Amino acid sequence: MTGSSDLRGSARAAYDFMTEPATVRELPPQGIAPREALEAVQSEVLLDGDPWKNLATFVTTWMPPEGRMVIEENLYRNFIDHAEYPRTAEIARRCVRILHGLFHGVGEPECPGAACAGSSEAVMLGALAMKWRWRERRQKEGKPIDAPNLVYGADVHVVWDKFCRYFDVEPRQVNLPKGETTVPPDALRDQIDENTVGVVAVAGTTFTGECGDIEGIDAMLRELAGKGLEVPMHVDAASGGFVFPFSHPDFKWDFRLETVKSVNTSGHKFGLVYPGVGWLVFRDDKQLPEELVFYEDYLGEKDPTFTLNFSGSSSFILAQYFNFLHLGRVGYEAAVQAMDTNAAALAKGLAAIDGVENVELKAPALPLVIARVSEGEPFSEDDLVGELARRRGWLVPAYELPPDSDDIRIMRMLVKIDQTRELVDALVADFGASVEFLRKRGKGEGKTPAHTGVGY
Ligand SMILES: Cc1ncc(COP(=O)(O)O)c(C=O)c1O
Repeated sequence: MTGSSDLRGSARAAYDFMTEPATVRELPPQGIAPREALEAVQSEVLLDGDPWKNLATFVTTWMPPEGRMVIEENLYRNFIDHAEYPRTAEIARRCVRILHGLFHGVGEPECPGAACAGSSEAVMLGALAMKWRWRERRQKEGKPIDAPNLVYGADVHVVWDKFCRYFDVEPRQVNLPKGETTVPPDALRDQIDENTVGVVAVAGTTFTGECGDIEGIDAMLRELAGKGLEVPMHVDAASGGFVFPFSHPDFKWDFRLETVKSVNTSGHKFGLVYPGVGWLVFRDDKQLPEELVFYEDYLGEKDPTFTLNFSGSSSFILAQYFNFLHLGRVGYEAAVQAMDTNAAALAKGLAAIDGVENVELKAPALPLVIARVSEGEPFSEDDLVGELARRRGWLVPAYELPPDSDDIRIMRMLVKIDQTRELVDALVADFGASVEFLRKRGKGEGKTPAHTGVGY
């Protein structure tokens, strides 16, 4: 095309849309047709990685069409309008009750929790409740309330640091013992004092998918309570909350442990809903201080709310309920079993490749595999994940463990419901071919190989 002056009408618009630089700052004076706007957005996100091959994320990347229909058909239903959408509010309460039961809560508390945007909001609210309860107790005892602290290991998600910074709580973060992947109860105990609002344990850490000694933390906290220092535990089960009840029903990490007063979990991780929905679940009514509940007199209805945000779509909450109905306990069990089976197949496949080795995980752990490059290889984890991305677009994160285990660099691969055995086998094959290629390249022999298999 030599010029555009002879183009007219829709051809002209299409030419402009295809050839003009993206809108990056100012609102464009003129709009474009919805089809073109759609094209513009979709062609741009093509430059992102493929979520299906994103082995870094815990977040759901596949739902059945009926689940997607629930989402699509309820996007405009603002969750906060409880007066107008009382059934949706009731469905959210049902989800919280179902989780309270799944986590072995007893009885039927009036306010057992809240639907949230994700685990991050649930963590903020759960931690705020701990802070308020601590303050209430201290005020009753006539003691100072100016220096609250929160005790947790370096294996927690960054959201806990965020909470401490935003809500003015001293973070007492305990480093991992060198070579370990979780923090032992004794190391946490050393940091606890009368200003500790709570202790955080993780069921399924972001770094390795392991759990640490949650029962041990409970025993330690009960011992302290016996000496007059009562400190609650919050379990961050962002991932594990929808895994361990099905994969390890006898593993005690939840309200079966006396000191566990609140739990968060992400519906959009192993709850198998697209982002974003998370849940905060309290052990009983006593855990939610009344001052944190806002009674909003809005559009004719007095409505108790416990949230950080206001408006938001009901879609993902309703999709969670859809999953509860559709999958039931047996369905979640089957899904978790399938993920565990494929994670085991991936681990076995990688174990057979000379040049990479698996990091043994302490059970119970999330369905994921952690591997390292063997000592003495002429390439690093970064080289390997780069090669995997180049071959077939696999997105595998390589990172260091938190301090003091930060000399350990790992690659972590989530095996979620959309990672079928075929995909796992393809990933193993690509690992093998990548190692071979990188070794040759290390000797100065490597040429970018031509793909010759079926489909190339
Ligand atoms: C242990 C843990 N806690 C909290 C979060 C934050 O969860 P969300 O992304 O649902 O806000 C994550 C996310 O990966 C996590 O792994």
